Amino acid sequence: MTEFAADRLLLFGATGDLSRRKLLPSLCALDADGLLPENLAIIGTARSDIDDAAFRDMARAALEEFLPAERRGGMATFLNRLSYQQLDASTLDGFDTLAAKVAAAGSETGSDAESGGLAIFLSTAPSLFGPTIAGLEHAGLTGERVRMCLEKPLGTNLETSAQINDAVAAAFSEDRIFRIDHYLGKETVQNLLALRFANILFEPIWNANVIDHVQITVAETVGLEGRVTFYDDAGALRDMVQNHMLQLLALVAMEPPTSFDATAVRDEKVKVLRALRPALANETVTGQYRAGAVEGQAVPGYDEELGKDSATETFTAIKAHVDNWRWKGVPFYLRTGKRLPERVTEILIQFRSVPHSIFGGSDAGNAGAGLQPNSLLIGIQPDEDITLSLMAKVPGLDEDGVRLREVPLQIKMPDAFVGQHRRIAYERLLLDLIKGDQTLFVRRDEVEAQWEWVDAIRAEWEAHGITPKPYASGNWGPSAAIALAERDGVSWHE
Ligand code: BG6
Repeated sequence: MTEFAADRLLLFGATGDLSRRKLLPSLCALDADGLLPENLAIIGTARSDIDDAAFRDMARAALEEFLPAERRGGMATFLNRLSYQQLDASTLDGFDTLAAKVAAAGSETGSDAESGGLAIFLSTAPSLFGPTIAGLEHAGLTGERVRMCLEKPLGTNLETSAQINDAVAAAFSEDRIFRIDHYLGKETVQNLLALRFANILFEPIWNANVIDHVQITVAETVGLEGRVTFYDDAGALRDMVQNHMLQLLALVAMEPPTSFDATAVRDEKVKVLRALRPALANETVTGQYRAGAVEGQAVPGYDEELGKDSATETFTAIKAHVDNWRWKGVPFYLRTGKRLPERVTEILIQFRSVPHSIFGGSDAGNAGAGLQPNSLLIGIQPDEDITLSLMAKVPGLDEDGVRLREVPLQIKMPDAFVGQHRRIAYERLLLDLIKGDQTLFVRRDEVEAQWEWVDAIRAEWEAHGITPKPYASGNWGPSAAIALAERDGVSWHE
C-alpha cells in the first residue's frame, strides 16, 4: 500500500455516463459527510470542449438528477473543487496542458504531482487506455505518487486484458493500480466477509460435508439500456460473470484470510479462481430475451432494441465447480440475465439433509412430514436480508407424529442499522483510491484467472456451435436453465 492521501483526483471520461451517474454523486456525498481530504481538487477531462464553469453546471445537473436531495448538503463546496481540461486522449498533444492544469489544481497547497499525490480514474473506452497512459507518461504524470484506477471492461478476453495490463504495468507498479469491480464496493458484498469470518457459527460447516450446493443469482429487469455496441460485443458472460459473479463466488468459497488487508484477501480469492474447473458445454445455458412483459410493462426483444439479429447472450446459467478439498462435489450454480422478472442479487447456501430423521419419513402424510434441509439466503440487493431457514415443530399434540415446517430466522440489515447511510458502492471505492487501500480492488492475477475460465466457456460454446436460446422477457431465462439445475434435483431459488 502506498501511504499517502491524494490531493488531486483526475477523472478521464468526466462528462460520461458513469461520471454523471455514479462518480460525481459519490464524491459529492463523501464531501457532504466531510470524508474527502480538505484540499482535494477534482479535475475532469474529456473530449467535450467546455470550460470550468460549464463542467460545474454539468456536474450540478448530474447531482440533482442522481443524488438524493438529503445528501446534497455540501454541493456548493463540492462544485468549487471541480475544474476541467478538454483533451483528445488519442494524441499526445494536449497532455502537457493537462499536466499544467493538474499542477495548478495543487498549487494552493504548494504540492505538485510528486509531493502531493494524484489519483487518476480512467472511465473511458478501453481503446483509449494505451494512448492515455502514453500521454500521461509523456507529461510526467506517472510518478511514484500517482495511482491509476481502471474501470471495466478490461479487455474482452485473456489476451486483450493482458495487453491492457501490460500497458498499465509499464507505467505503474501493481501497488498503484486499482481495478474496479463495483460489486466489491457494495456494503452487502463486504458483509459476506463479516458473516463468514466474524461469526464462529458458519466456518465449521462451510464445506462439502454440510453444504449441498450454492446458487448465485444476479437478475436484472433492464434490457440493453442504449449500450448497443458495448453490450452486443460483450454479452452476459463477459459483462457480469467474468467480474461481479466470479468475485461473489470467490468471496463465498475462499479460505479465511489471515487479515482484512489487500494481500491476504486477494491471495485467498485468487486461489479459488484458479481452482475453478473449466465448465463443459452441457454445464452452461445461454439465452437471449424476446419481447415480453417485465413488471407489468411490455418490452421489446433484444434484436428489436438492437435493430438487427445477434448471437449475443443476454442470459447465462453455469454449473461451476471449485476443485479443492473444501468444495469437492459441491456445485455452484450461477445465473445472470437481463429482462428477468425482478431485480435481485442473492446467494443461496443450500445445506445437506440431516443424516437421519428421528421423526420418521418425510413423505406427505407421514410422521416427520415437512423435513427440509436448511438453507442460508444472503440478499445482496435490493433487499439486504440474511435468512436462515430452520425446521420447527408445528404446534399440536402430534397424535400422528411430529410435523415439521420451515421457519425463517431473518435479519433485515436496514432495520439492524437504522440511521446509517446506504452508500453508493463508488463512495467506498473512490475513498479507498484516494487513501490508497487496495483491498476492495481486483489484482491482475485475479482478473486473469477470471478471464481464463470465461474464455474456456466461450471456446466450448464455439466448439459446440452453441447459440442463445430465446426467452420471453419477464421469464427466468430459457427453460434449459431450469433443466440445468433440475437434472441434479435442484430448484433455483425464486
Ligand atoms: C455492470 C454491467 O458492470 O453492472 C451492467 O456492465 C449491469 O450491464 C451492472 O447492469 C449491474 O450493476 P448493479 O450495481 O446495478 O447490480
